[in-house]
Amino acid sequence: MGNFTFFLIFLFTNSVLNFKLTNCSRRHLPLFSDEGTRKSSQAAECQFGKQLRELGSVWFADLGPPFGIMYCIRCECVPYQKKRRVIGKVHCRNIKNECPKPTCDEPVLPPGKCCKVCPGDKNSPDNITDDLVPIISVEEEKNMKHFAAVLTARIQLEETTVASASTLLSSGAKDYVATGRFAFHKRNLYFSFYFNSRPRGVQFIDQKGNILEEQVLSPSSVYQNDTGKICGVWRRIPREYRRLIREEKLLVTLLWERADLSITGQLYRFRALNTELYSALLEGTIPMSGGTAIVSVSTTAPSIHLTIAFIGLFTAEDVADVIVIIKLQVLDSEDVVLEDSVKVDKPSSDMNLVEVRSPISLSDLQLLSKHKLKVIISTKSGATLSGKIMTRTTCEIFHAPLIAPIDTTDVITTPVSGLAWMYIDMNGALKYHVQLDQITQLDMLGLVIERRLIELEDLTPSFRDGWANGTIDGLSVRHLEQLYNGELAINVATPQTRSLVRGKLTGRPLADARDAKSPSLLKRYNPASPAELTGFIWAAVDIECNLHYEVVLAGLVPENHPLELYLEEIPFVAPGAPVSRRLLAEFSSIQLEDFILGMSPHELIKLDSGVVYFDIKDTTTQKSILKTQWKDISIPMSCLPHYSDNNVPAINFNNDGIAPETAACFHGDRFHDEGTQWPSTIEHCVMCTCRHGRVKCDNVICPATSCTNPVLKSNQCCPSCEDNSDTNMTGSCQLAGQTFPAGATWHPYLPPNGFDSCATCTCNSTNLKVKCTRVECPPLPCDESVAVRKSGCCKICPSQIPGSETSISTVDTMGWLGDQQDSFTKTKAEILASGGCNYPFGGPYENGHEWHPRVYSHGEVKWVKCHCKDGKVRCERNKKHH
Ligand SMILES: *[C@@H]1O[C@H](CO)[C@@H](O)[C@H](O)[C@H]1NC(C)=O
Ligand SMILES: *[C@@H]1O[C@H](CO)[C@@H](O)[C@H](O)[C@H]1NC(C)=O
Ligand SMILES: *[C@@H]1O[C@H](CO)[C@@H](O)[C@H](O)[C@H]1NC(C)=O
Ligand SMILES: *[C@@H]1O[C@H](CO)[C@@H](O)[C@H](O)[C@H]1NC(C)=O
Repeated sequence: MGNFTFFLIFLFTNSVLNFKLTNCSRRHLPLFSDEGTRKSSQAAECQFGKQLRELGSVWFADLGPPFGIMYCIRCECVPYQKKRRVIGKVHCRNIKNECPKPTCDEPVLPPGKCCKVCPGDKNSPDNITDDLVPIISVEEEKNMKHFAAVLTARIQLEETTVASASTLLSSGAKDYVATGRFAFHKRNLYFSFYFNSRPRGVQFIDQKGNILEEQVLSPSSVYQNDTGKICGVWRRIPREYRRLIREEKLLVTLLWERADLSITGQLYRFRALNTELYSALLEGTIPMSGGTAIVSVSTTAPSIHLTIAFIGLFTAEDVADVIVIIKLQVLDSEDVVLEDSVKVDKPSSDMNLVEVRSPISLSDLQLLSKHKLKVIISTKSGATLSGKIMTRTTCEIFHAPLIAPIDTTDVITTPVSGLAWMYIDMNGALKYHVQLDQITQLDMLGLVIERRLIELEDLTPSFRDGWANGTIDGLSVRHLEQLYNGELAINVATPQTRSLVRGKLTGRPLADARDAKSPSLLKRYNPASPAELTGFIWAAVDIECNLHYEVVLAGLVPENHPLELYLEEIPFVAPGAPVSRRLLAEFSSIQLEDFILGMSPHELIKLDSGVVYFDIKDTTTQKSILKTQWKDISIPMSCLPHYSDNNVPAINFNNDGIAPETAACFHGDRFHDEGTQWPSTIEHCVMCTCRHGRVKCDNVICPATSCTNPVLKSNQCCPSCEDNSDTNMTGSCQLAGQTFPAGATWHPYLPPNGFDSCATCTCNSTNLKVKCTRVECPPLPCDESVAVRKSGCCKICPSQIPGSETSISTVDTMGWLGDQQDSFTKTKAEILASGGCNYPFGGPYENGHEWHPRVYSHGEVKWVKCHCKDGKVRCERNKKHH
């Protein structure tokens, strides 16, 4: 046990377990290496192995097979204050000594426990509930749906901590203002901002000014450019912080490069956010003031509802019953659409709220949908706040897989499939992209009302080359509402059917994967794939080098079919290209959203320079059912290996740095596997081989012929003797993937040494069998153990070496084709081909080999034995070692 404890302590002081050992149980060996995980160490969560743990969570250390869970090692993710920052740290300790002394004579050790207990004993330090993925009740989720904030340079912290708060005062940012929307979804808080100057970072802080979460904002994406928004997500919010949000005690700060530039605002819950259609960011004439308008509209009896939250409009004289005038005005004009006044009983130096409800004309609604209105609020003292009414602040995208509708009465099975995605840009226009695959004839491509297929917009004119990309200006308020409510669809009609394929548009908060330039349409490459199956995948690598993806499938029958998602990479498209394949997920639903933490620079450069596919396999048949190329890969520079300008990385499909499993050689016009040999297609009579990912070629060496008039047959490199016996000159022999005509003679090609001129092979023209014979060596005049091989095929005695008296005899009995097999180190491919096993340390191992696994920086783990049998590694723990 002593040894083992040491090992644990070693690992825990590093707080991250090295999980490479678990490889021996994995069904799929990762082809990408595990090194270089770059998950920010600054997060308010803990990383243990490859798992993320919430602050406050408790678990037993799981070292993975074959060690399993250590029920006496209790780990906890505890908050740790690092200046203003609160981060998560893993604390693990041995609780064996804390076990209470059992009070009975025969205590038992229950399974999954550390302490022996007596019947009835309850309190034990090993009573923990390990909830890796905490469940959030529907109730809690509903309670936390929508929040908004107004951010200004004004201090908004608890007065009790003025000292720390004063450091937050940001006078340089007095004219900066922003408004945010926050939507809570599955433990994640999606945030969106409108701003008047693009910030560089975002922080979530508590009322004391402690930083709970901090992010560098990713460079502007296509979506963010088109909408003028900042979008992001704070993932996996710990329970404690969820409480802060619920109780309106969370603040958000936007930061700029200069340290004194920052603005802060508190998150408030507003009921109006449930129906928000448009938003406005209000900027003021007074420094450090700002506001936002939440605009809802009813189209049945046209009316508008404005909820305005603002800060800093009131002066010290405004103590009670202050009149605020609210105006809705046409942009660049004096036309007032609406004017109202509201009395604020108790003006606050912090957030104030006013509301206006009013009927509105349809033409004014149209102005609203075209972003032609602004809202202005002012007080008698002349202070004003104003801003243009725009698409609602929330970052969202609407997407749909397009498939043949199931409810169709027309019996038409179509190979056509497709996808659509769209969003509202900063001018209120709907930007759409529709991709259709396998379409031959198209009558009408339309944006329709999903339930009755009523066409709203004809997208057909923009359709070409399988794509319809375009913009619909000023989407009407009614249609916008329908879009937000998920009532719209994309429909493709042909002369034969009014709905060949269609898909209902669903709104999704935008961040990470969905912030990519475009999704990739998953296509049926396998004719056996179900005809109605389709889907698409969003994928992106964030600035912390995590790979995010979202898969959306349609037409999967049954819906809970077990599937596997793979990420595949080849250096470039050529026959025999080596595939690096990584299993991303096993799933059985039509929607999957997940991520891979901290991809290493090594694997990211491969994705960046290679050709990348997503492949969905049917788990039962192991056949690919949907596949797509990931074309729009964009990997942050900071995630790639660092190279100076004059040290540009080679696209390294032949480099030593590559994972050996994928080593293959590109030669001629195709890839050749490690360890194989082939006749060069570039030069005649040259044989090549691939060793350690490098190509080596040798000119063919022709054996001497025994006949007087040998013939050189076409396509042969070496002349051979005609065999006149009962010949079968039509046949040929096969050796090492090459063909030799009947009767041919040649020296065998034995990489890495090249052609073995001490052996000659022939293709027997009677039975078409290859026979190789070695040069016959004469008996040695000395003991064999002292004989050496200089040049030539036979060993010679020291006395025969030139310079010594006796002359050299030309041959010896030891040809070396026989011992070739042993002296020649097998290539990795050969070991694997004969049932050997891949293994990250010291591997590959030969079939039947046994060894002790090694743990990073620690060495052999003697009480675990691994065994390679027929390509599979099985590791077992010594039973006595508990
Ligand atoms: C976004 O806009 C900025 C400034 O116009 C530009 O530099 C950047 O390339 C754009 N990004 C994308 C993804 O279009
Ligand atoms: C339509 O947009 C997609 C995604 O940006 C792009 O890949 C495609 O080439 C575009 N097609 C046409 C015809 O413009
Ligand atoms: C010659 O070789 C061919 C192909 O291997 C075989 O089909 C045929 O029977 C052989 N003929 C003789 C005479 O051995
Ligand atoms: C070819 O094989 C036949 C049958 O095994 C044998 O009789 C013959 O001697 C062989 N020919 C040569 C040239 O080795």
